[in-house]
Amino acid sequence: MVTRGRVVRILLGGAVGALVVVAAGAAGGPGDASRGRQLFEVKQCARCHRGQGEPGGGPPIERLRRPQGAYELTGRFWSHVPQMFTALTQEGVPWPVISDDEVADLMAYLGADPARDPKPDRLRGHDALVTKGCLKCHSLRGEGARIAPDLGERRAVFAPPARWAATIWRHTPKMAAVAMERGILHPRFSGAEMRHLAAYLGDGPP
Ligand code: HEC
Ligand code: HEC
Repeated sequence: MVTRGRVVRILLGGAVGALVVVAAGAAGGPGDASRGRQLFEVKQCARCHRGQGEPGGGPPIERLRRPQGAYELTGRFWSHVPQMFTALTQEGVPWPVISDDEVADLMAYLGADPARDPKPDRLRGHDALVTKGCLKCHSLRGEGARIAPDLGERRAVFAPPARWAATIWRHTPKMAAVAMERGILHPRFSGAEMRHLAAYLGDGPP
């Protein structure tokens, strides 16, 4: 027979375990590069990204792995969704499901570190919001379209960078599909643009 005390301990043990897992993702703790290397295979990345000179559907792994900011890499993920989505659909491969923690591991493997992102500039974040066309589908503080969720209600997804990158993985195929349907260009990101935009959207108005 299991005593009441033991049940409580078991429940608590479970709860503490769950908390630790959540904390790793939510606190944006550093990912594990060797797990990231395995995930790169498991999540189908290696299908298209191979070594220099080997045939693959995407740029070689050497171009992906480099010292870079975590938001910078998030921007590169975002930019490449339409091409990857089209290629995988053509091959009949399902879109890979990747959790926040797994993205953190992939980021560590690819050389991304939040310390390499520049200090956020929310004014430039606002510029990015407008020039990247987010408001063609989303609303924010009463402005913009109502095709997609209000961005003011989604503050929690923009940080830490691994969470935002994981959200992008989950949702951008749908965003890209809506963009194609409506003839809206899927915006591309480079350098610090994603850093500034995430700070602007995550923190609210300056
Ligand atoms: C079906 C093929 C395919 C798969 C699978 C794939 N990619 Fe890609 N990837 C591409 C293509 C094609 C590009 C170039 C896209 C572009 O420039 O718009 C690219 C570009 C990238 C870039 C940006 C490179 C740059 O120069 O900015 C990153 C980072 C990346 N992929 C990471 C990944 C990760 C991580 C995975 C696995 C979760 C993955 N890719 C899976 C085809 C793929
Ligand atoms: C072509 C239309 C379109 C554009 C442009 C667009 N989105 Fe979206 N977005 C969507 C749709 C549709 C969804 C809902 C996806 C779903 O439910 O899976 C969505 C979902 C989201 C979410 C919610 C994710 C979540 O889990 O809470 C965020 C955040 C987001 N978009 C941010 C952005 C940002 C930032 C931009 C500009 C860089 C942008 N979107 C541009 C259509 C768009």
